[in-house]
Amino acid sequence: MALIEFRGVQKAFGPKVVYRHLDLDVFEGESLTIIGGSGQGKSVMLKMLIGLLPVDRGSIQFQGRDVTTLTEAEFSAVRRQVGMLFQGAALFDSLDVRENVAYGLREHYQMSEAEISERVRESLAYVGLPGIESMWPADLSGGMKKRVGLARAIAVRPAVLLYDEPTTGLDPINVTRINHLILHLKKTLHATSVVVTHDMASAFAISDRIAMIHEGGVIFSGTCEELRASTDRRVRDFIEGNAPQDPHIADPDATEPNATPSRSQDTLSTPATDPNFSERR
Ligand SMILES: Nc1ncnc2c1ncn2[C@@H]1O[C@H](COP(=O)(O)OP(=O)(O)O)[C@@H](O)[C@H]1O
Ligand SMILES: [Mg+2]
Repeated sequence: MALIEFRGVQKAFGPKVVYRHLDLDVFEGESLTIIGGSGQGKSVMLKMLIGLLPVDRGSIQFQGRDVTTLTEAEFSAVRRQVGMLFQGAALFDSLDVRENVAYGLREHYQMSEAEISERVRESLAYVGLPGIESMWPADLSGGMKKRVGLARAIAVRPAVLLYDEPTTGLDPINVTRINHLILHLKKTLHATSVVVTHDMASAFAISDRIAMIHEGGVIFSGTCEELRASTDRRVRDFIEGNAPQDPHIADPDATEPNATPSRSQDTLSTPATDPNFSERR
């Protein structure tokens, strides 16, 4: 039996259907990457798993229990086993690095101040940022913020680590650093990891298995090799980065004189348009 099982999950926001039928297994100890275009529901999947968003239908089993039926108090026991790196890191700007990393420890555990200090110190060392406890989020670069977010996620020593777009917006050196860190944490903490990304280089670098979500469900799951060999047009377009034909963009070779170029912006995700960005601040 899988550690996490999504079965027949449906989710809509008003008329906007995100999941029609989501079935997905996450096996203990594996590193599973979820790929899919912007707005396909990757963040929503993680939020349903940790109870930040309710499902409309279906079940999500975590260690054999259906988490969609848990009370808030029961959910707390699940959440302390799950560390999540939110999209955009989502540090609390009003707390220093120490208190950001200590957040889950204070929420879920009765630990002494000395124990908390030690765990914060260890967690920052794990992500390669020892001794920055007294810095503030505003003083950190994007790459450092992600790593502090990761230190916060691992501070509770979770059985499962969820990463939402851990490399998005980082420069290539920090992308490599975060990929190495994900692999390192998997090896040393033996945590199961679920990584959401649309960065294929990262996906191939860190995954035991990859699942692609598209239009309301999983359309592919398999190893990196199986993904590379897939003949599904939607999978190929995604991993090769082929843009779909957009009738609004004028073809430069076309002879029609009055074609108006206008590019749809709705797949761009920015702090201003992305609902994930402000969440849990
Ligand atoms: N809290 C919310 N309220 C309304 N719509 C939402 C909410 N969260 C996500 N959505 C919508 O659900 C769809 C999937 O979102 P999301 O999971 O964030 O996509 P992504 O795959 O880019 O992470 C998007 O159309 C998004 O606008
Ligand atoms: Mg997202």
